[in-house]
Amino acid sequence: MRTRTLKFLTSLALISILTSAAKNHQTKDDKGLKDYYRKYFPIGVAVRPSDLQSVESQLILKEFNSITPENAMKMGPIHPRENRYNWRDADSIVSFAVRNKLKVRGHTLCWHAQTPSWLFTDSAGNNVSKEVLLQRLKSHILAVAGRYKGKVYAWDVVNEVIADGNDFIRKSKWTEIAGEEFIAKAFEYAHEADPNAVLFYNDYNTEIASKREKIYRLLKGLKEKGVPVQGVGLQAHWSVSSPSREELEESITKFASLGLQIQFTELDISVYAGRQGGQLIQNQQRQQQESQFTSEMEQKQLEKYKMVFDVFRKHRKHITGVTFWNVSDKYSWLDGRGRKNFPLLFDQNLQRKKAYAEVVEF
Ligand code: XIL
Repeated sequence: MRTRTLKFLTSLALISILTSAAKNHQTKDDKGLKDYYRKYFPIGVAVRPSDLQSVESQLILKEFNSITPENAMKMGPIHPRENRYNWRDADSIVSFAVRNKLKVRGHTLCWHAQTPSWLFTDSAGNNVSKEVLLQRLKSHILAVAGRYKGKVYAWDVVNEVIADGNDFIRKSKWTEIAGEEFIAKAFEYAHEADPNAVLFYNDYNTEIASKREKIYRLLKGLKEKGVPVQGVGLQAHWSVSSPSREELEESITKFASLGLQIQFTELDISVYAGRQGGQLIQNQQRQQQESQFTSEMEQKQLEKYKMVFDVFRKHRKHITGVTFWNVSDKYSWLDGRGRKNFPLLFDQNLQRKKAYAEVVEF
């Protein structure tokens, strides 16, 4: 009798081991990042129009449920002359998203970089007045956010206006002509263009205490004045050596205390130590040196990915999105810095790296 029961129990255990193994296998094949994180937050990726017409598109549809145009909606590319908009690339990205039921994060309506040359000057080449600049900003935002109303669910309205050094607000053509007022105005115009879009302030190096404090001060001030800002985008251009868990958690808690939703908007983890930041480097076309993705880089990077996603899950109630900046290591915006980088979860053949497993096993 006893041996029979024992046999029966052993076979039951065997069956359950086999089915769970089968399930696991199936899980690995069928699920993408977006499915593992279904109950947490959308997982997005920055795209170029060409990504949507090549093998990358299959990977995008399998792994992600949100996209951000890497460049196509920036002021320079989309509004090259005062009376000319170039809608083609942004339209193609938005229609891909609509066809495939992906969310779109719009990026970005007001920034100091990638601005069109006509924006700050009149026909004689002199600076325009503050009134003219704000009028131009307004008509730009009404046109762009208006065109994609209801299709772009969230906008990075203002990008990177906090200074890295001692200044509070970054000095730029914007501040030279319009002081600091353009920041609040940009949010007001965006809200007018699409009252349902979630409006973000977006920046990098948000885990460095001094910059975090300044961003906090800016956002607190905007909220107190009733400016329609609902979220903060933490770019997350990180590296194998930073940020630490403590720095990251401190940023999340601090910004969440303002009642803002948090999104990680441009995630990549450079394999080179040091702060990556997110600064645009001049002379991006430098000759590229040979570089290898070593097993040491692989190990350090997977540990960092594991840690940051662990923190994201822990703080899920404040986090409403995580977006990677580029699809795979085949192409990253960081490659233009004289050496190849390998900052993403998919390798140059679009295969999942070891770090992928660290992100989805929890
Ligand atoms: C980068 C793009 O990835 C590059 O293709 C482009 O040459 C420069 O801009 N912070 C931002 C993004 O907010 O818009 C930047 O994107 C990366 C840093």
